[in-house]
Amino acid sequence: MAEFNRILVTGAAGFIGSGYVRYVVEQHAATQLVAFDALTYAGNPQNLDGLGDRVTFVRGDIADVEAVRAAMEGVDAVVNFAAESHVDRSLQDARPFVRTNVEGVAVLLDEARRARVRRFLQVSTDEVYGDLSGSDRHSLETDVLAPRSPYAATKAAAEHLVRSYGISYGMDVVITRGSNTYGPRQYPEKIIPLFITNALMDMPLPLYGQGTAVRDYLYVDDHCAGIDTVLHLGASGEAYNLGARTEVTGVEVARSLLRHLRKPEGLIQFVADRPGHDYRYSVDPGRAEALGWVRRVAWDEGLAATARWYADNRAWWDAVRGSAGFRGYVQRHYGPRLSQTQAAGE
Ligand code: NAD
Ligand code: DAU
Repeated sequence: MAEFNRILVTGAAGFIGSGYVRYVVEQHAATQLVAFDALTYAGNPQNLDGLGDRVTFVRGDIADVEAVRAAMEGVDAVVNFAAESHVDRSLQDARPFVRTNVEGVAVLLDEARRARVRRFLQVSTDEVYGDLSGSDRHSLETDVLAPRSPYAATKAAAEHLVRSYGISYGMDVVITRGSNTYGPRQYPEKIIPLFITNALMDMPLPLYGQGTAVRDYLYVDDHCAGIDTVLHLGASGEAYNLGARTEVTGVEVARSLLRHLRKPEGLIQFVADRPGHDYRYSVDPGRAEALGWVRRVAWDEGLAATARWYADNRAWWDAVRGSAGFRGYVQRHYGPRLSQTQAAGE
Protein backbone atom coordinates (compact mmCIF):
# COMPACT_ATOMS: atom_id res chain seq x y z
CA MET A 1 0.00 0.00 0.00
CA ALA A 2 1.22 3.52 -0.82
CA GLU A 3 2.40 5.96 1.85
CA PHE A 4 -0.19 8.04 3.72
CA ASN A 5 0.16 11.82 3.52
CA ARG A 6 -1.67 12.72 6.72
CA ILE A 7 -2.54 10.33 9.56
CA LEU A 8 -4.95 11.13 12.37
CA VAL A 9 -3.60 9.41 15.49
CA THR A 10 -6.13 9.45 18.32
CA GLY A 11 -5.01 8.82 21.91
CA ALA A 12 -1.68 10.25 20.74
CA ALA A 13 -0.62 11.64 24.13
CA GLY A 14 -0.93 8.24 25.80
CA PHE A 15 1.67 5.52 26.19
CA ILE A 16 1.49 3.56 22.91
CA GLY A 17 -0.09 6.37 20.85
CA SER A 18 2.86 8.69 21.56
CA GLY A 19 5.23 5.84 20.75
CA TYR A 20 3.48 5.41 17.42
CA VAL A 21 3.68 9.13 16.57
CA ARG A 22 7.43 8.96 17.33
CA TYR A 23 7.75 5.85 15.16
CA VAL A 24 6.03 7.49 12.15
CA VAL A 25 8.11 10.67 12.47
CA GLU A 26 11.24 8.51 12.33
CA GLN A 27 10.13 6.03 9.64
CA HIS A 28 7.98 8.03 7.19
CA ALA A 29 9.73 11.26 6.21
CA ALA A 30 6.83 12.73 4.21
CA THR A 31 3.92 11.94 6.55
CA GLN A 32 2.11 14.66 8.52
CA LEU A 33 0.40 13.67 11.76
CA VAL A 34 -2.60 15.04 13.61
CA ALA A 35 -2.05 13.99 17.23
CA PHE A 36 -5.54 14.05 18.75
CA ASP A 37 -6.14 13.48 22.47
CA ALA A 38 -8.63 14.48 25.16
CA LEU A 39 -5.84 14.54 27.80
CA THR A 40 -7.67 12.42 30.34
CA TYR A 41 -5.75 11.40 33.48
CA ALA A 42 -3.68 9.07 31.23
CA GLY A 43 -2.79 11.59 28.53
CA ASN A 44 0.41 13.61 28.87
CA PRO A 45 1.39 16.23 26.27
CA GLN A 46 5.03 15.88 27.39
CA ASN A 47 4.98 12.46 25.71
CA LEU A 48 4.93 14.31 22.37
CA ASP A 49 7.70 16.80 23.18
CA GLY A 50 10.43 17.35 20.60
CA LEU A 51 8.75 15.51 17.71
CA GLY A 52 8.98 18.42 15.27
CA ASP A 53 6.64 20.39 13.04
CA ARG A 54 5.15 17.44 11.16
CA VAL A 55 3.07 16.75 14.29
CA THR A 56 0.06 18.96 15.04
CA PHE A 57 -1.48 18.44 18.47
CA VAL A 58 -5.25 18.82 18.81
CA ARG A 59 -6.99 18.51 22.15
CA GLY A 60 -10.35 16.82 21.62
CA ASP A 61 -12.66 13.99 22.54
CA ILE A 62 -13.29 11.18 20.05
CA ALA A 63 -16.96 11.16 21.11
CA ASP A 64 -17.32 14.84 20.07
CA VAL A 65 -18.55 14.89 16.45
CA GLU A 66 -17.54 18.49 15.71
CA ALA A 67 -14.01 18.08 17.08
CA VAL A 68 -13.48 14.83 15.20
CA ARG A 69 -14.91 16.27 11.97
CA ALA A 70 -12.50 19.22 12.12
CA ALA A 71 -9.50 16.99 12.87
CA MET A 72 -10.37 14.64 10.00
CA GLU A 73 -9.82 17.38 7.37
CA GLY A 74 -7.32 16.25 4.72
CA VAL A 75 -6.60 13.00 6.56
CA ASP A 76 -6.08 9.79 4.57
CA ALA A 77 -5.66 7.30 7.45
CA VAL A 78 -6.93 7.04 11.03
CA VAL A 79 -5.14 5.01 13.71
CA ASN A 80 -7.29 4.86 16.83
CA PHE A 81 -5.47 4.37 20.14
CA ALA A 82 -7.87 6.52 22.19
CA ALA A 83 -9.38 4.44 24.97
CA GLU A 84 -9.92 3.98 28.63
CA SER A 85 -7.27 1.31 29.00
CA HIS A 86 -7.04 0.03 32.58
CA VAL A 87 -8.91 -3.14 33.55
CA ASP A 88 -9.00 -2.35 37.30
CA ARG A 89 -10.64 1.03 36.63
CA SER A 90 -13.24 -0.63 34.39
CA LEU A 91 -14.17 -2.80 37.37
CA GLN A 92 -14.82 0.36 39.42
CA ASP A 93 -16.92 2.13 36.74
CA ALA A 94 -17.57 0.79 33.25
CA ARG A 95 -19.35 3.89 31.91
CA PRO A 96 -16.32 5.95 30.77
CA PHE A 97 -15.17 2.79 28.97
CA VAL A 98 -18.46 2.48 27.08
CA ARG A 99 -18.42 6.16 26.19
CA THR A 100 -14.88 6.32 24.77
CA ASN A 101 -14.20 2.77 23.66
CA VAL A 102 -17.59 2.20 21.97
CA GLU A 103 -19.41 5.50 21.39
CA GLY A 104 -16.16 7.28 20.51
CA VAL A 105 -15.29 4.60 17.98
CA ALA A 106 -18.73 4.98 16.34
CA VAL A 107 -18.11 8.73 15.96
CA LEU A 108 -14.65 8.13 14.48
CA LEU A 109 -16.04 5.59 12.00
CA ASP A 110 -18.89 7.88 10.89
CA GLU A 111 -16.54 10.82 10.40
CA ALA A 112 -13.88 8.73 8.66
CA ARG A 113 -16.56 7.49 6.27
CA ARG A 114 -17.85 11.01 5.68
CA ALA A 115 -14.30 12.27 4.99
CA ARG A 116 -13.60 9.30 2.67
CA VAL A 117 -10.51 8.35 4.63
CA ARG A 118 -8.56 5.63 2.79
CA ARG A 119 -7.90 3.30 5.75
CA PHE A 120 -9.07 3.00 9.38
CA LEU A 121 -6.98 1.01 11.87
CA GLN A 122 -8.48 0.10 15.24
CA VAL A 123 -5.93 -0.67 17.95
CA SER A 124 -7.46 -3.56 19.88
CA THR A 125 -6.15 -6.03 22.42
CA ASP A 126 -5.55 -9.73 23.02
CA GLU A 127 -7.97 -9.41 25.97
CA VAL A 128 -10.88 -9.77 23.53
CA TYR A 129 -10.11 -13.53 23.39
CA GLY A 130 -10.70 -14.03 27.12
CA ASP A 131 -8.89 -16.39 29.45
CA LEU A 132 -6.69 -19.18 28.03
CA SER A 133 -5.70 -20.70 31.37
CA GLY A 134 -5.81 -24.49 31.56
CA SER A 135 -4.69 -24.78 27.94
CA ASP A 136 -1.36 -24.37 26.17
CA ARG A 137 -2.85 -23.04 22.96
CA HIS A 138 -2.35 -19.55 21.51
CA SER A 139 -5.26 -17.38 20.36
CA LEU A 140 -5.78 -17.14 16.62
CA GLU A 141 -7.54 -14.31 14.79
CA THR A 142 -10.28 -16.75 13.79
CA ASP A 143 -11.16 -17.54 17.44
CA VAL A 144 -14.52 -16.43 18.81
CA LEU A 145 -14.20 -13.28 20.94
CA ALA A 146 -14.93 -14.00 24.61
CA PRO A 147 -14.10 -10.86 26.63
CA ARG A 148 -14.48 -11.15 30.40
CA SER A 149 -13.77 -7.71 31.94
CA PRO A 150 -15.79 -4.54 31.26
CA TYR A 151 -12.68 -3.09 29.56
CA ALA A 152 -12.29 -6.11 27.26
CA ALA A 153 -16.05 -6.14 26.54
CA THR A 154 -15.90 -2.55 25.26
CA LYS A 155 -12.84 -3.30 23.13
CA ALA A 156 -14.62 -6.31 21.60
CA ALA A 157 -17.73 -4.18 20.96
CA ALA A 158 -15.53 -1.64 19.17
CA GLU A 159 -14.05 -4.37 17.00
CA HIS A 160 -17.52 -5.53 15.97
CA LEU A 161 -18.46 -1.96 15.04
CA VAL A 162 -15.27 -1.50 13.00
CA ARG A 163 -15.80 -4.75 11.13
CA SER A 164 -19.48 -3.86 10.53
CA TYR A 165 -18.48 -0.57 8.85
CA GLY A 166 -16.17 -2.54 6.58
CA ILE A 167 -18.99 -4.89 5.61
CA SER A 168 -21.89 -2.42 5.52
CA TYR A 169 -20.19 0.53 3.82
CA GLY A 170 -17.16 -1.00 2.13
CA MET A 171 -14.78 0.97 4.36
CA ASP A 172 -11.17 -0.20 4.35
CA VAL A 173 -10.70 -1.24 8.00
CA VAL A 174 -8.02 -3.27 9.80
CA ILE A 175 -7.64 -4.30 13.44
CA THR A 176 -4.58 -5.09 15.57
CA ARG A 177 -4.81 -7.19 18.74
CA GLY A 178 -1.71 -6.37 20.74
CA SER A 179 -0.56 -8.18 23.85
CA ASN A 180 0.53 -6.55 27.15
CA THR A 181 2.78 -3.68 26.24
CA TYR A 182 5.52 -2.11 28.35
CA GLY A 183 8.26 0.49 27.94
CA PRO A 184 8.98 4.18 28.64
CA ARG A 185 6.10 6.64 29.27
CA GLN A 186 3.51 4.09 30.46
CA TYR A 187 1.15 5.52 33.07
CA PRO A 188 2.20 4.00 36.39
CA GLU A 189 -1.08 2.19 37.09
CA LYS A 190 -0.13 -0.85 34.94
CA ILE A 191 1.94 -3.57 36.58
CA ILE A 192 5.40 -2.83 35.14
CA PRO A 193 5.59 0.96 35.67
CA LEU A 194 3.70 0.67 38.98
CA PHE A 195 6.12 -1.91 40.29
CA ILE A 196 9.24 -0.12 38.99
CA THR A 197 8.23 3.22 40.52
CA ASN A 198 7.09 1.57 43.79
CA ALA A 199 10.42 -0.27 43.99
CA LEU A 200 12.35 2.95 43.32
CA MET A 201 10.52 4.40 46.36
CA ASP A 202 11.02 1.21 48.44
CA MET A 203 7.25 0.68 48.55
CA PRO A 204 5.49 -2.73 48.39
CA LEU A 205 4.79 -4.42 45.04
CA PRO A 206 1.14 -5.61 45.32
CA LEU A 207 0.79 -8.90 43.44
CA TYR A 208 -2.77 -10.08 42.89
CA GLY A 209 -3.69 -13.55 44.15
CA GLN A 210 -0.71 -15.86 43.91
CA GLY A 211 0.99 -13.87 41.14
CA THR A 212 0.61 -16.75 38.70
CA ALA A 213 -1.34 -14.94 35.95
CA VAL A 214 0.52 -15.06 32.63
CA ARG A 215 0.88 -12.20 30.17
CA ASP A 216 2.76 -12.04 26.85
CA TYR A 217 4.88 -8.88 27.23
CA LEU A 218 5.58 -6.87 24.07
CA TYR A 219 7.99 -3.91 24.02
CA VAL A 220 6.29 -0.67 22.94
CA ASP A 221 8.55 -0.08 19.89
CA ASP A 222 7.72 -3.56 18.59
CA HIS A 223 4.00 -2.96 19.11
CA CYS A 224 4.22 0.34 17.17
CA ALA A 225 6.16 -1.30 14.32
CA GLY A 226 3.50 -4.03 14.17
CA ILE A 227 0.67 -1.50 13.97
CA ASP A 228 2.48 0.35 11.19
CA THR A 229 3.04 -2.88 9.26
CA VAL A 230 -0.66 -3.73 9.47
CA LEU A 231 -1.64 -0.17 8.48
CA HIS A 232 0.46 -0.42 5.31
CA LEU A 233 0.23 -4.11 4.43
CA GLY A 234 -2.72 -5.68 6.27
CA ALA A 235 -5.60 -7.13 4.26
CA SER A 236 -8.79 -5.10 4.42
CA GLY A 237 -11.31 -6.35 6.99
CA GLU A 238 -8.76 -8.54 8.81
CA ALA A 239 -7.46 -8.61 12.39
CA TYR A 240 -3.78 -9.22 13.27
CA ASN A 241 -2.38 -10.49 16.56
CA LEU A 242 0.77 -8.72 17.79
CA GLY A 243 2.56 -10.62 20.54
CA ALA A 244 6.11 -11.39 21.62
CA ARG A 245 5.78 -15.18 22.17
CA THR A 246 7.01 -14.38 25.71
CA GLU A 247 4.82 -15.72 28.53
CA VAL A 248 5.73 -14.29 31.93
CA THR A 249 3.93 -14.64 35.31
CA GLY A 250 3.36 -11.76 37.72
CA VAL A 251 5.89 -13.22 40.16
CA GLU A 252 8.50 -13.37 37.37
CA VAL A 253 7.79 -9.72 36.44
CA ALA A 254 8.27 -8.62 40.06
CA ARG A 255 11.43 -10.69 40.63
CA SER A 256 13.05 -9.64 37.34
CA LEU A 257 12.53 -5.96 37.84
CA LEU A 258 13.69 -6.09 41.48
CA ARG A 259 16.86 -7.76 40.20
CA HIS A 260 17.38 -4.98 37.60
CA LEU A 261 16.84 -2.30 40.26
CA ARG A 262 18.91 -4.13 42.92
CA LYS A 263 16.01 -4.09 45.39
CA PRO A 264 15.03 -6.91 47.81
CA GLU A 265 12.35 -9.53 47.01
CA GLY A 266 10.84 -8.73 50.40
CA LEU A 267 9.09 -5.79 48.70
CA ILE A 268 6.67 -8.27 47.06
CA GLN A 269 3.28 -8.43 48.82
CA PHE A 270 0.52 -10.81 47.79
CA VAL A 271 -2.85 -9.05 47.94
CA ALA A 272 -6.51 -9.81 47.17
CA ASP A 273 -6.98 -10.98 43.60
CA ARG A 274 -8.56 -8.99 40.74
CA PRO A 275 -12.23 -10.06 40.33
CA GLY A 276 -12.64 -12.20 37.22
CA HIS A 277 -8.84 -12.23 36.73
CA ASP A 278 -7.86 -13.72 33.37
CA TYR A 279 -4.96 -16.02 34.23
CA ARG A 280 -3.45 -16.44 30.78
CA TYR A 281 -3.32 -14.55 27.52
CA SER A 282 -1.18 -15.74 24.66
CA VAL A 283 -1.55 -14.91 20.98
CA ASP A 284 -0.15 -16.52 17.86
CA PRO A 285 1.35 -13.58 15.90
CA GLY A 286 1.99 -15.69 12.77
CA ARG A 287 -0.39 -13.70 10.57
CA ALA A 288 1.44 -10.40 11.29
CA GLU A 289 4.81 -12.13 10.90
CA ALA A 290 3.73 -13.24 7.42
CA LEU A 291 3.51 -9.51 6.54
CA GLY A 292 7.20 -9.16 7.47
CA TRP A 293 6.82 -7.91 11.08
CA VAL A 294 9.07 -9.42 13.73
CA ARG A 295 9.35 -8.83 17.45
CA ARG A 296 12.87 -7.43 17.95
CA VAL A 297 13.24 -6.55 21.64
CA ALA A 298 13.68 -9.53 23.99
CA TRP A 299 11.97 -9.45 27.41
CA ASP A 300 15.09 -8.99 29.52
CA GLU A 301 16.49 -6.28 27.25
CA GLY A 302 13.14 -4.43 27.17
CA LEU A 303 12.68 -4.66 30.94
CA ALA A 304 16.22 -3.35 31.57
CA ALA A 305 15.62 -0.41 29.18
CA THR A 306 12.27 0.33 30.85
CA ALA A 307 13.68 0.20 34.39
CA ARG A 308 16.51 2.50 33.25
CA TRP A 309 14.06 4.99 31.72
CA TYR A 310 12.00 5.29 34.91
CA ALA A 311 15.16 5.59 37.03
CA ASP A 312 16.41 8.40 34.73
CA ASN A 313 13.07 10.23 34.32
CA ARG A 314 11.86 10.66 37.84
CA ALA A 315 10.37 14.12 37.13
CA TRP A 316 8.00 12.55 34.57
CA TRP A 317 6.49 10.04 37.01
CA ASP A 318 6.83 12.18 40.16
CA ALA A 319 4.39 14.62 38.55
CA VAL A 320 1.92 11.80 37.80
CA ARG A 321 2.26 10.01 41.11
CA GLY A 322 2.04 13.27 43.06
CA SER A 323 -1.28 14.25 41.45
CA ALA A 324 -4.47 14.12 43.49
CA GLY A 325 -6.07 11.85 40.85
CA PHE A 326 -3.35 9.20 41.07
CA ARG A 327 -3.20 9.30 44.87
CA GLY A 328 -6.98 8.97 45.13
CA TYR A 329 -6.96 6.00 42.76
CA VAL A 330 -4.18 4.24 44.68
CA GLN A 331 -5.98 4.83 47.97
CA ARG A 332 -9.32 3.51 46.63
CA HIS A 333 -7.85 0.54 44.82
CA TYR A 334 -4.87 -0.58 46.92
CA GLY A 335 -5.76 0.78 50.37
CA PRO A 336 -8.15 -2.07 51.26
CA ARG A 337 -5.92 -4.65 49.52
CA LEU A 338 -2.72 -3.70 51.32
CA SER A 339 -4.48 -3.62 54.68
CA GLN A 340 -5.57 -7.26 54.13
CA THR A 341 -2.26 -8.52 52.81
CA GLN A 342 -2.12 -12.26 52.20
CA ALA A 343 0.85 -14.42 52.96
CA ALA A 344 2.80 -15.54 49.87
CA GLY A 345 1.15 -18.46 48.13
CA GLU A 346 -2.04 -18.40 50.24
P1 NAD B 1 -3.19 5.00 27.69
O1 NAD B 1 -4.23 4.93 28.75
O2 NAD B 1 -1.77 5.24 28.06
O3 NAD B 1 -3.58 6.14 26.64
C1 NAD B 1 -4.88 6.37 26.20
C2 NAD B 1 -4.93 7.78 25.61
O4 NAD B 1 -6.23 8.00 25.08
C3 NAD B 1 -4.65 8.87 26.64
O5 NAD B 1 -3.72 9.79 26.13
C4 NAD B 1 -6.01 9.53 26.83
O6 NAD B 1 -5.93 10.91 27.16
C5 NAD B 1 -6.66 9.30 25.48
N1 NAD B 1 -8.12 9.30 25.54
C6 NAD B 1 -8.92 8.64 26.42
N2 NAD B 1 -10.22 8.92 26.17
C7 NAD B 1 -10.24 9.74 25.09
C8 NAD B 1 -11.27 10.35 24.34
N3 NAD B 1 -12.58 10.18 24.66
N4 NAD B 1 -10.93 11.11 23.28
C9 NAD B 1 -9.62 11.31 22.96
N5 NAD B 1 -8.61 10.78 23.64
C10 NAD B 1 -8.91 10.00 24.69
O7 NAD B 1 -3.36 3.67 26.86
P2 NAD B 1 -2.27 2.79 26.07
O8 NAD B 1 -1.77 1.76 26.98
O9 NAD B 1 -1.37 3.67 25.32
O10 NAD B 1 -3.25 2.04 25.04
C11 NAD B 1 -3.54 2.61 23.77
C12 NAD B 1 -4.45 1.69 23.01
O11 NAD B 1 -3.83 0.42 22.88
C13 NAD B 1 -5.79 1.43 23.69
O12 NAD B 1 -6.78 1.40 22.70
C14 NAD B 1 -5.63 0.07 24.34
O13 NAD B 1 -6.88 -0.59 24.41
C15 NAD B 1 -4.70 -0.60 23.35
N6 NAD B 1 -3.82 -1.65 23.89
C16 NAD B 1 -3.05 -1.40 25.00
C17 NAD B 1 -2.17 -2.39 25.45
C18 NAD B 1 -1.30 -2.18 26.68
O14 NAD B 1 -0.75 -3.16 27.20
N7 NAD B 1 -1.12 -0.97 27.17
C19 NAD B 1 -2.10 -3.62 24.78
C20 NAD B 1 -2.91 -3.83 23.66
C21 NAD B 1 -3.76 -2.83 23.22
O1 DAU C 1 -3.22 -7.74 27.18
C1 DAU C 1 -3.34 -6.42 26.71
C2 DAU C 1 -3.84 -5.54 27.82
O2 DAU C 1 -2.79 -5.42 28.76
C3 DAU C 1 -4.28 -4.15 27.36
O3 DAU C 1 -5.38 -4.28 26.50
C4 DAU C 1 -4.64 -3.26 28.55
O4 DAU C 1 -4.93 -1.94 28.09
C5 DAU C 1 -3.48 -3.21 29.50
O5 DAU C 1 -3.83 -2.48 30.65
C6 DAU C 1 -3.05 -4.63 29.90
O6 DAU C 1 -4.07 -5.24 30.72
P1 DAU C 1 -3.71 -6.14 32.01
O7 DAU C 1 -4.88 -6.15 32.90
O8 DAU C 1 -3.15 -7.44 31.61
O9 DAU C 1 -2.50 -5.24 32.60
P2 DAU C 1 -2.14 -4.86 34.10
O10 DAU C 1 -0.81 -4.21 34.06
O11 DAU C 1 -3.25 -4.18 34.79
O12 DAU C 1 -1.99 -6.30 34.77
C7 DAU C 1 -1.01 -7.24 34.29
C8 DAU C 1 -1.01 -8.45 35.22
O13 DAU C 1 -0.49 -8.06 36.49
C9 DAU C 1 -2.38 -9.03 35.51
O14 DAU C 1 -2.28 -10.43 35.65
C10 DAU C 1 -2.78 -8.39 36.83
C11 DAU C 1 -1.45 -8.26 37.54
N1 DAU C 1 -1.33 -7.11 38.47
C12 DAU C 1 -1.62 -5.86 38.00
C13 DAU C 1 -1.52 -4.77 38.83
C14 DAU C 1 -1.85 -3.39 38.32
C15 DAU C 1 -0.91 -7.30 39.78
O15 DAU C 1 -0.63 -8.44 40.20
N2 DAU C 1 -0.82 -6.23 40.59
C16 DAU C 1 -1.11 -4.96 40.18
O16 DAU C 1 -1.02 -4.01 41.01
